[in-house]
Amino acid sequence: FAFTPANLAWAEGQITKYPEGRQASAIIPLLWRAQEQEGWLTRPAIEAVADMLDMAYIRALEVASFYFMFQLQPVGSVAHIQICGTTSCMICGAEDLIAVCQEKIATKPHVVSADGKFSWEEVECLGSCTNAPMAQIGKDYYEDLTSEKFGQLIDELAAGKVPTPGPQNGRYGAEPLSGLT
Ligand code: FES
Repeated sequence: FAFTPANLAWAEGQITKYPEGRQASAIIPLLWRAQEQEGWLTRPAIEAVADMLDMAYIRALEVASFYFMFQLQPVGSVAHIQICGTTSCMICGAEDLIAVCQEKIATKPHVVSADGKFSWEEVECLGSCTNAPMAQIGKDYYEDLTSEKFGQLIDELAAGKVPTPGPQNGRYGAEPLSGLT
C-alpha cells in the first residue's frame, strides 16, 4: 500500500497539526483517507499508516477495529450497508431489514454479493433512533424504513441511481412541523 501523491501530501499535512511526540493523534483521519483510497483497510494500509505515525501496527489495528466506520474486509463496489440493530431499530423492524440484506446481498455479514456491488453488517446505534428503523448506506442515512422500501433502495442503487437520503416515509418532509411555524 502507498498513498497517492495527493493523499500523501494531505496525510503529512494532518500530522503537522499535532505537537511533537503526539503524531499518533492523526491516526483516525489517516486511516479514513486510506480507506477512502482503497475501499477498505487492508493490513498493508494499516501498517503504512502506523509507520507514518511511528506507532506499532497492533495499536493502529486496535483503533481500526474499534470503530464501525472502518472496514477490515472487502466491501461492495456500490455500497457497504450498515443496519442499526440497537433497541429502537430492533423494536421497529431491524430484523426485517437484515432479512432483505440476506436475500439480496449475502446470507452472512461482511460477505460481498455475487455481483460485487454490496456488502452488509449489523451495527450498534447510529444516533438516529427517532427515525427507526434505519440503515447507513455508504455515507448516507436512510430512515423510517420498511423492508419493502429498503429493498427498493438497494435495487435503485444497483441500477446506478442515488436515492434521496433521510426519512423514507415522508415525515419531516415538505410540510412544516406544527407548532414550529
Ligand atoms: Fe437505531 Fe439508535 S437505535 S439509530
